Amino acid sequence: MHRYLRSRGCFLIGAILVSLAGASSAFAGGNPCNPCAPKNPCAASNRIDAKLVTRPAGSKLFAGKPEDLRREGEMLWNSKSLSSNGLACATCHQSNAAFNASFAKPYPHLVGMVKERSGMKKIALDEMVQFCMLAPMASKPLAWDARELAALTAYASEVQKHFKPEPGSTAAPKNPCAPANPCAAGKK
Ligand code: HEC
Repeated sequence: MHRYLRSRGCFLIGAILVSLAGASSAFAGGNPCNPCAPKNPCAASNRIDAKLVTRPAGSKLFAGKPEDLRREGEMLWNSKSLSSNGLACATCHQSNAAFNASFAKPYPHLVGMVKERSGMKKIALDEMVQFCMLAPMASKPLAWDARELAALTAYASEVQKHFKPEPGSTAAPKNPCAPANPCAAGKK
């Protein structure tokens, strides 16, 4: 019981741990916050409304100079100002952390966390930015024609170009909260 209560206070650490679980299971053992507790940010009960992350028909990404957008996107990627919980995109994604093999595939594609929490079977890159704004960043989606969304999408696309899945990992999307995850019972 007290573990459950503590998990609320540990929301932030849990969020980071869960996202890093794929990259490193080093934390999984001794941490007092259980990232797989019912209140963790990737628990299936934490539903995300697919409508909020689906680009409305007829709307378009803001069009700007690609190099300007990439530069602005990099600054936003490193900024904590977009989230309500003190995280930046880079907090979880530093050195390609938290990405699964799906990230190497052309968009739109299936992403484990997205399917689990919103039921969407595929997602575009700008929609993925919106999903991470809403879910791990605990914030609001950006306007669909916002310069910031175009900038983050441009930078994420740049990051994707340099991303290589870990050798041995499959192209199948891996959900950090799937039974095979490092904090599932029976695994260290
Ligand atoms: C608390 C950690 C966390 C934060 C902060 C975070 N993300 Fe993520 N992100 C994840 C996790 C976990 C995944 C992997 C989901 C999966 O593969 O099931 C992911 C996946 C992604 C992917 C790749 C999905 C794919 O496989 O195609 C992109 C792109 C992405 N995030 C963008 C962002 C952006 C942009 C921000 C900031 C606005 C951000 N993320 C903030 C945890 C985070």
